[in-house]
Amino acid sequence: MKHLLSTQDLSRKDALDILDTAEEMAQVGQREVKKLPALRGRTVVNLFFEDSTRTRISFEAAAKRLSADVINFSAKGSSVSKGESLKDTAQTLAAIGADAVVIRHWASGAPQRLANTDWIDARILNAGDGTHEHPTQALLDAFTMRRHWAKLAGTGSAGTDLSGMRVAIAGDVLHSRVARSNVWLLRTLGATVTLVAPPTLLPVGVDAWPCEVSYDLDATLEQGVDAMMMLRVQKERMNASFFPSAREYSRRWGFDDARLEALDRHGLKDTIIMHPGPMNRGLEISSAAADSARSTILDQVSNGVSVRMAALYLLLTGGRDDETSTSHAAT
Ligand code: CP
Repeated sequence: MKHLLSTQDLSRKDALDILDTAEEMAQVGQREVKKLPALRGRTVVNLFFEDSTRTRISFEAAAKRLSADVINFSAKGSSVSKGESLKDTAQTLAAIGADAVVIRHWASGAPQRLANTDWIDARILNAGDGTHEHPTQALLDAFTMRRHWAKLAGTGSAGTDLSGMRVAIAGDVLHSRVARSNVWLLRTLGATVTLVAPPTLLPVGVDAWPCEVSYDLDATLEQGVDAMMMLRVQKERMNASFFPSAREYSRRWGFDDARLEALDRHGLKDTIIMHPGPMNRGLEISSAAADSARSTILDQVSNGVSVRMAALYLLLTGGRDDETSTSHAAT
């Protein structure tokens, strides 16, 4: 694996390698293991053309926990606002010696563009491109699900996939790179996925995706789900005609207090509630659901650091070996 651009490109082995490495990385920052020297002397650039809280800070924390030098670049306040192109920006990063570029861009395909040109010879990690993909989000979601179910089973999660798990992803699928990355990765890991959305918030061609599609959130819950992932309504990307009223949306497709109570009624005592963040509380998810004992929303954020450490580590070192494993090289 040279770059991390899309979950559609990931084999089952690639995905399990990242998740298993993330399990090792999760030990860093805890107990006596504070930091690894694995990426000492390497430079990681966070190149963000769109706003971010979780992804940017967790990539920064991940790179620092691996002892890399980190440069944070935000398009706002840079020469991009003077019209500098992606090519010139990439060549500037090459000139300062970037070994890895973590890119978030409003244009779908921008990370692929960087990876497939000779503008820069660095590992490229997609931190969210337009409405296309957000692969590290899907990996941290899978990591969170895997850990939850391993805990229920009283087993370790290393090496296991998500076979037999039922995942529902509900909301603004049309604009969601998180949904796309999750559908492909969850399918690769053996889970079954149901997308639930208003017809106007489903993309053309969704019938060809490897998942079920429903317009009815209550019916999906009644059938049983192990993980309920709510998506943010991305008002900034949509035309008003796409969107029902906020009240109707919340009533039909929001995970509200009544649906939270319905999980118990349907005997779904172990179902978790997920959201990639940022949330529109009261629209796609109620505060009671977001803050409930079933919610894994903050676990997802914590797990994002471990998963991004694993991705940086595997891309920049080529894999795990005894010399650099977490148990041998901690500082
Ligand atoms: N989930 C996610 O990508 O959040 P940010 O936009 O805050 O990075």
